[in-house]
Amino acid sequence: MRSTLQAPGPARDNRAGARGDAGIETAAQAADGTGKREYVQQMFSDIAPRYDLLNHVLSMNIDKRWRKQALRQLAWTARPTGTYLDLCAGTLDVGATLVRQAGFQGFVAGADFAVPMLQHGAGKAPASVLAPVGADALALPFGNATLDGAIVAFGIRNVADLDAGLREVRRVLRPGARFVILEFSTPRYALVRLLYHAYFHNVLPLIGRIVSGHGSAYTYLPLSVAKFPTEDALANRLRGAGFSTVSWERLTFGIAAIHVATV
Ligand SMILES: C[S@@+](CC[C@H](N)C(=O)[O-])C[C@H]1O[C@@H](n2cnc3c(N)ncnc32)[C@H](O)[C@@H]1O
Repeated sequence: MRSTLQAPGPARDNRAGARGDAGIETAAQAADGTGKREYVQQMFSDIAPRYDLLNHVLSMNIDKRWRKQALRQLAWTARPTGTYLDLCAGTLDVGATLVRQAGFQGFVAGADFAVPMLQHGAGKAPASVLAPVGADALALPFGNATLDGAIVAFGIRNVADLDAGLREVRRVLRPGARFVILEFSTPRYALVRLLYHAYFHNVLPLIGRIVSGHGSAYTYLPLSVAKFPTEDALANRLRGAGFSTVSWERLTFGIAAIHVATV
C-alpha cells in the first residue's frame, strides 16, 4: 500500500478569505448535518497547523492516554504483522502510536480527506510503516475483508453519513477483526455535566478561536458532540451496520467513550 496525498472530492477553496470564514451559523448547520462534508474538510484543512497543539492543551493531555487505551482494544497483538486502518487519521497520532508499540511489525494506513492534516503528521513515523492516504471514509480505497483491524479517534462524529461510514469500515475488515471507536460523549452525572458544559461551550471555543485563528472550528466541536448518538444508540448503529458483537466503556467521568465492535 502506498501513501497518496490527493484530496478526494471537490478541491479545497484556497482563495483569500476562505480560511476561517465559514462562521458560527455554518458550523451549527454542519453539526446538524447540512453541508457537513464540505465544512469539515475545509475546517480541518484550515486548522491543521495548530491542531496538535490545541488538542493537547485543551484536553490537558488526557487525549494521549485515551488514544493508548483505545489502541489496547484493537487487539493487534493477535496479528502483529497485520494491516490496520487509522480512520479519520488527522495528524496521524493514533497510527504513529500504534507503529511505535513494542512488538508491532505490521502496517498502518492513515486515511483522511483533509490532506493538510495528514501532511502535518507525516514526520511522525516512516511512510513504510504508516502511510498517509487521502481518502473519504465513505469510499475507502481498500478491498472487501482486506484489513486486520480499524480504529477511529474523534473522527466518526464528523463523518457526514454515520451509518454509511460504519458500513464502509465493516466492508474492509476481515472476519473476526475489530473496529474501535474513541469519541467524545456527554457525562451522565449532573455536576460533571455542568462543569463540562461550561468548559466545552465557553472556555474551549474562546481558546480555540484565539490559538487556531479559525472563527468556528471550536464552536463546531461541542455542537457536534451534542448531536452525536449516546453510547447505547451508537452500539445499535454498529450492530445495524453488520458488526456482530459490540461493547463500550466510558472514560474520565463519561467525557469520552470507547466502543469495540467485532466483524
Ligand atoms: C478531530 S480530527 C481527529 C484526528 C485524529 N484521529 C486524532 O485522534 O487527533 C477528525 C478528522 O476526521 C477527518 N474526517 C472527517 N470526516 C471525514 C471523512 N468523511 N473522510 C475522511 N476523513 C474525515 C477530518 O478531516 C479530521 O482530520
